[in-house]
Amino acid sequence: MTEVQERCTKQCVQNAKKSARSLSNQGATVQSIAKSAIPNGKIAVVKSSAADLTLQLKRAFDHRRTLKLDSNAVRLVNSRGDGLEGLIIDRFYRHVAVYILNARWQSQQKTISEALRENFDVDYLVFKDRTGCSTGSGSASAPPKAVEPIGQGKSQTIIEEHGLRFQVDLNDHLNAGLFLDMRKNRKLVAFYAKGRRVLNCFAYTCSFGVYCRKFGASRVSNVDISAKFLQKGKDNYRLNNLPEGPGEFVRDHAVLYLERAAKRKDVFDIIILDPPSFARYEGTVFSVKKDMPLLIDKALRALTPEGMLFISTNLSTIPRAKLEEWAHIAAKKMGRKIVEVNRLGQDLDFRESGAMKESFLSAILVKTTMKF
Ligand SMILES: C[S@@+](CC[C@H](N)C(=O)[O-])C[C@H]1O[C@@H](n2cnc3c(N)ncnc32)[C@H](O)[C@@H]1O
Repeated sequence: MTEVQERCTKQCVQNAKKSARSLSNQGATVQSIAKSAIPNGKIAVVKSSAADLTLQLKRAFDHRRTLKLDSNAVRLVNSRGDGLEGLIIDRFYRHVAVYILNARWQSQQKTISEALRENFDVDYLVFKDRTGCSTGSGSASAPPKAVEPIGQGKSQTIIEEHGLRFQVDLNDHLNAGLFLDMRKNRKLVAFYAKGRRVLNCFAYTCSFGVYCRKFGASRVSNVDISAKFLQKGKDNYRLNNLPEGPGEFVRDHAVLYLERAAKRKDVFDIIILDPPSFARYEGTVFSVKKDMPLLIDKALRALTPEGMLFISTNLSTIPRAKLEEWAHIAAKKMGRKIVEVNRLGQDLDFRESGAMKESFLSAILVKTTMKF
């Protein structure tokens, strides 16, 4: 258990005892409430009254307020991590998305909606029923079953994270346009980007690209197979007053782009590999489990001798150690050495990250060198 997790658990038990004292006046038992609040990966709320749920949501919201994340886009409830198994709530400034992964929450929409409005200014609220999907709010392979916007406003908004601006759309496709769990990793990679050439493979809406350019990268190439997502990336650049450099947005298959770049000796100092778990493209299938070793191999060939590689996956069957092993094997094959490994995961608002499939991120940032 990490220090942070331990801190959270102790705090939760204390909070639970406090809440239990106040709730016992309302007829709930101390034991049931304390149990439901301990995010130890085993105990979750089984049945809760509206009052229990309201209290538990409030505790989850209050916890986020203590984290000082420098962002107005935050995960407010992280399923079992907040003792609310199968419920995920993401806040994007005054827009909120509620992901229902367990049918038990379908009948609680009113209570959830009220709790959100009591605690935040909410312009737009959407419930996404994903009880039929396997991966929760991440890169789900099946589309959401139902989307029910509540509120008058538009589904789009602009959020601010570490002083940078990103547009999101709560009704767009499967994901809103910014992966909140990558927040601290975006910042870490950008920290190394000053004066460096960065290749952002699987760029999506180019959030890594925006960070790296803002932190002074000499060049960024955002590569994605989707023209639509690259267009959103361009919008994000504009929002942050970033001019578009040559080759900044490239619609291509990441593996093919890496092969061509290596061939023409168009090398990069930092390469970001954050692929989807599974994707189809023009008759080909990309599976992170099968294709990540090849992807790492291709990336190392387009990386400068002292370059850095960021590798990540949300697939819960791939632990961080596996990514490291793949990186070491690929490096060894081409006479390189990994000299430094940063082991990374989801940001702090993803409480109990790794303890459940719907909240998982393995990531490493490795520094390489040539063997002499
Ligand atoms: C998990 S998202 C990447 C998230 C992104 N790294 C971020 O942090 O915002 C997956 C992206 O990979 C793109 N993609 C899928 N297969 C691809 C491929 N073979 N080559 C390039 N991009 C691909 C999708 O269009 C999508 O934008």
